[in-house]
Amino acid sequence: MAKRTKIKELLNSSAFGSEVIVKGWVRTFRNNQFIAINDGSTINNIQAVVDYTNTDEALLKRLTTGAAVSITGELIESLGKGQKVEVKVKQLEILGDSDAEKFPLQPKKHSLEFLREIAHLRFRTNTFNAVFKVRHALAFAVHQFFNERGFVYLHTPIITASDAEGAGEMFRVTSLDFDNPPRTEEGHVDFKQDFFGKSTNLTVSGQLEGELAAMALGEIYTFGPTFRAENSNTTRHLAEFWMIEPEVAFADLNDNMQLAEDLLKYVIAYALKTCPDELEFLKTRLLEEEKQKPQDERAELDLLAKLNFCLDNNFERLTYTEAIEILKNSNPNKKKKFKYLIESWGADLQSEHERYLVEKHFKKPVILTDYPKDIKAFYMRQNDDGKTVRAMDILFPGIGEIVGGSQREERLDLLEKRMNEMHIPTEDLYWYLDTRRFGSAPHAGFGLGFERLVLFVTGMTNIRDVIPFPRAPKTAEF
Ligand code: 4AD
Ligand code: MG
Repeated sequence: MAKRTKIKELLNSSAFGSEVIVKGWVRTFRNNQFIAINDGSTINNIQAVVDYTNTDEALLKRLTTGAAVSITGELIESLGKGQKVEVKVKQLEILGDSDAEKFPLQPKKHSLEFLREIAHLRFRTNTFNAVFKVRHALAFAVHQFFNERGFVYLHTPIITASDAEGAGEMFRVTSLDFDNPPRTEEGHVDFKQDFFGKSTNLTVSGQLEGELAAMALGEIYTFGPTFRAENSNTTRHLAEFWMIEPEVAFADLNDNMQLAEDLLKYVIAYALKTCPDELEFLKTRLLEEEKQKPQDERAELDLLAKLNFCLDNNFERLTYTEAIEILKNSNPNKKKKFKYLIESWGADLQSEHERYLVEKHFKKPVILTDYPKDIKAFYMRQNDDGKTVRAMDILFPGIGEIVGGSQREERLDLLEKRMNEMHIPTEDLYWYLDTRRFGSAPHAGFGLGFERLVLFVTGMTNIRDVIPFPRAPKTAEF
């Protein structure tokens, strides 16, 4: 196949007079002569100029939005505003027509809600081009960060028989006949006859398996899909999301906080460095979106300023107990503006409280530590006060919780006791407890929700717009 040059390369070229081949999709065709073409290599289009007096009219009619074209022509200096180069068409071929009457994307602004309904086509818009480029850059940066530090990328299973978070929000995996499953004598479904010989589900977290490996390899991380059957129809929850979970032997909560802060800053800096066009575009998009809001609800900083601010400041660290005091005495609490009022120690923090701390009180990312044990998972290290655990959550502006983690309970007796209190089956998790039986050591780790990170960096407002094919309650199209 004749070799094309990517538009990104052409736009930066000054090889005027040379013959080039451009392949891409028509964005617009104006005045019967200017074709704006995009090939995905950049959010910017290249303009091709066709001599309509010498081109078959039937062919020109096929230059509709969405059509795939191959153009051979001369790279010339552009006289028009807004572009440096353009292509003077010598030969034009339509690779694939796009019926203008039926193609849902028109050269105008579409709402994100509308685009979500045609998620199979939304890749062809500038917004989603930019979002998925940034998503890629962040994923790549995550691997680079850990690789530079000697962490091992560990592939933990997607199908498991355990519930790592103990929250019971799992999707079952079975090959049993749904209409007529085998039954035990007591009438229960007989999972012994199921594919794996036991009841299995999609993983909610790779942490438990990650800990097994960390207790030998020292430093590992996972980066894979996780699944939660929680019925949360919010702009921050997905049923299928990607999580990054490092686990580090011989580390305590302070080491854990530092690792998380370093990781976040590293990947944000990487996106700023490698995606300037995309982030500039997304900044403008967000400014437009914010114009719809009343003045006092608009963000103080634009997207780029917000990202840089995050790099330049240390995250604020405080305990849950200190945060509760701040919240109790806060204006929205006193004036009963919070939906869930903070009345006493022990309350779980809702996203409105997290956002108050980050956006109004501290005005920067916050790390909360030492939560009440009753609102956290069984594996967290218990503090001497008997009430709190060595947990940490990182809260980000506009997002709320972006990271959740802890130092792990490495003492077998205390871990078993806590599991029993919380009705976590110790027999089924014998393999997890073995790490505490044989050469136990302090260790810590966390989970970073990848889509929440992409949400923050792109300035998008709905988590369904930063994953190519969102899975949420009643949503599994494509
Ligand atoms: O706080 P979570 O539930 O922690 C864990 O799963 C631990 N096992 C992590 C660890 O210590 N290794 O989830 C971690 C992060 C959250 O902070 C959030 O960013 C993201 O995962 N997350 C979700 N993202 C999108 N949709 C959902 N339904 C999410 N649930 C959690
Ligand atoms: Mg959490």
